[in-house]
Amino acid sequence: MTLLKTFKTLPLELARGEDVWVWDTAGRKYLDLYAGHAVCSTGHCHPHVVKAVQEQVGRLIFYSNVAALPLRNQAAALLLKHAVGFAAALFANSGAEANENALKMARRHTGRHEVVAMIGGFHGRTAGAISATGIEKYRKQSEPLVPGVSFVPFGEIPALTEKTAAVILEPVQSMAGCRTAPAEYFQRLRELCTKNGTVLIYDEVQTGIGRTGTMFFAGRHGVIPDLVTLAKGIGSGIPLSAVLVSGPIAERVQYGEYGATFGAGPVAMAAMKATLEVVEGLLPNVVEVGRTLAKCSERVPGVLEVRGLGLLLGLKLEGDAPAVQKALLDRGVIVGTADEPGVIRLLPPLTLSHVHVDSFVKTLADALKASAAAGPATPK
Ligand SMILES: Cc1ncc(COP(=O)(O)O)c(C=O)c1O
Repeated sequence: MTLLKTFKTLPLELARGEDVWVWDTAGRKYLDLYAGHAVCSTGHCHPHVVKAVQEQVGRLIFYSNVAALPLRNQAAALLLKHAVGFAAALFANSGAEANENALKMARRHTGRHEVVAMIGGFHGRTAGAISATGIEKYRKQSEPLVPGVSFVPFGEIPALTEKTAAVILEPVQSMAGCRTAPAEYFQRLRELCTKNGTVLIYDEVQTGIGRTGTMFFAGRHGVIPDLVTLAKGIGSGIPLSAVLVSGPIAERVQYGEYGATFGAGPVAMAAMKATLEVVEGLLPNVVEVGRTLAKCSERVPGVLEVRGLGLLLGLKLEGDAPAVQKALLDRGVIVGTADEPGVIRLLPPLTLSHVHVDSFVKTLADALKASAAAGPATPK
């Protein structure tokens, strides 16, 4: 064994990627509706991102936040231009790290330590992030947990107390099968947090950077949270994460409280800036193609329900999800499964077109028939 076991791997070995396509080492081409888990937002190896990263690697690979870089300021300004209602950004390296920082910020800002999180929510695998994750099997693996977190059903308004520092949620719960909630839920939660002096945190590690058809979920339904965490799609695959911080919280932060050696490194900043420049132009595509993709329940027998928003979709199937995933892979399409049995997840590059959707719909119909005939696959 050389690599420690992490995620159960798909039975394919990849060699390269371009836009919505990846090729395996045998030269076989796959339509990638998974994007390395919602990461390759601009598609694989988008020329604008590749150029920006290549140029930056030749200019200055790294310098930490201890020295100012014009590129860092430009990239952060571009991110904040889209983040209406936020004053500053903190950069880190992974979604879990962004959530750790957000939870710490909420606790320091309020002087309280309790956190309300959602059943079904996923926030990462580090101590604080996993302790706020509402999926029992992941929490169990990580005990003892950081104390002070309680869980409520997503979509139900929680009771907050004078000890509640933060409410954290994924606006679309991806791992739980792409569930979201009505506008009034987010609006009432905002009112309640404001009234109670509680920090509202949106984990937009998946919904952020255009995936739901707007740059962020924050701002939707007129609701602006106090903190937003971002990762995955933010650098088109170059590791990077961020916390968007509202004015009152940012103003009280002092030097030395937050930071990471690699956070906001030049290559990651070049990747983020180029990614944002591309994603700005893709938002209408996400809305339109996402809408067409969501209609696959009308076109394919065996798709019982489609959940989610934009290009973050969960398809509830009549059949066994791992079996359908395998049948799709055999037919040259990569999709994900979810924590909820019977759901496959589609998290494709935001460049996906109607032509790709048509081809997927036909392949899905065929894969559903084949997997029903073959019976259940080994669970993931
Ligand atoms: C909503 C959400 N938050 C946080 C994370 C953790 O991100 P990372 O794996 O980059 O630490 C994930 C990862 O899947 C996620 O989906």
